[in-house]
Amino acid sequence: MRYLGTNIEMTVNKLSVSYTDEGPDEAPVIILIHGFPFNKSMWNKQVEMLIENFRVIAYDIRGFGNSGAGLVDFSIELFADDLIGLMDALKIEKAMLCGLSMGGYIALNAIENFPKRFNALVLCDTTCMADTPEGIQKRMLAVDNITKYGIEPYANETIKNLFAPESFVTSKEKIAAIKEMIMKTSAQSLSGTLIALSKRKETCTKLAEIMVPVLIVVGKEDKITPPEAALLMQKKIKGSILSIIEHAGHLSNIENSFDFNNQLLKFVSSIHQQSDQHTKRDRLVTEVLNSRKITNDEKMLLDLNSKILKITMTIKDDYPELSKYLDEMPVTIPSEKDPEVTLNLLKGYYESLHSLLNKYKTEYPKIEE
Ligand code: MLT
Repeated sequence: MRYLGTNIEMTVNKLSVSYTDEGPDEAPVIILIHGFPFNKSMWNKQVEMLIENFRVIAYDIRGFGNSGAGLVDFSIELFADDLIGLMDALKIEKAMLCGLSMGGYIALNAIENFPKRFNALVLCDTTCMADTPEGIQKRMLAVDNITKYGIEPYANETIKNLFAPESFVTSKEKIAAIKEMIMKTSAQSLSGTLIALSKRKETCTKLAEIMVPVLIVVGKEDKITPPEAALLMQKKIKGSILSIIEHAGHLSNIENSFDFNNQLLKFVSSIHQQSDQHTKRDRLVTEVLNSRKITNDEKMLLDLNSKILKITMTIKDDYPELSKYLDEMPVTIPSEKDPEVTLNLLKGYYESLHSLLNKYKTEYPKIEE
């Protein structure tokens, strides 16, 4: 049974986890993972926008918001295990994953270790790099300072780096809300997570293995995980899209939620349409394979199917500007009884992709670097 709402409690890995679950039952699932040291409410503007067409899960990482902290030491691996535990508890087999900063570290760890559980990734204001020695030192100093002076000075210091300069003038309420999130976090969770972050492994060497569509978003003025870090990831993740958000620093989803939401919605909607098409095509292959008259038809169908997948990948990887036409291509579920109709439709589909690509290549030849 599915419980709908915000602040739902669920026991995961012996821990009480607080989460939001909203949106239509059968809709594609998006899971939102917050950054440090915030909580799931940082996604309010995205939840609001997505729930019309998606099932949205936003949860509090252990130690944050309304989730319990447990007794074991924090680590990014543990946070990723909690995520999988939550998906299992909610019976979510596959989801699109969207993480900001620390949420991105968790998403990258999860996709590395549980690749089959995700069908798309959105990496926001994050990096694949581990902490530098200076970064580790700063975190250890912060741990000491929290113990000595409490949370408020830490919150004030943290906020200075989180936002674009203009946000301090235009977005005072948002800044106050973020400060409140930090102030509500326990000193133990802050310190435990600072240590976990300082020990996290790099994931840059694993990015080439990511096989799902990826959107990378970064605030133009992000000082913590700057656009250069986003560009580095984009170069390593085949076919990934990079979007730089103007008028935003590290919290791009909050500082410029309008542009952020547009990019996010465009991306997740295109994934939804593509996966719909793949499902239809897979179903088609299964239908024909299960039918009795399979001989040459079967061979031709498999051949066509692999040609379609190949040309789709070429378009997505090398000519992403044409991806929008992929979504518009008709994929019809043909008649079970007449495989010839199936073949003709698929042939037509393949040929239209093929001629689109060739025409484009002729009109806009790539200049070798
Ligand atoms: C975050 O927003 O999650 C933090 O800035 C991550 C970090 O400190 O590395």
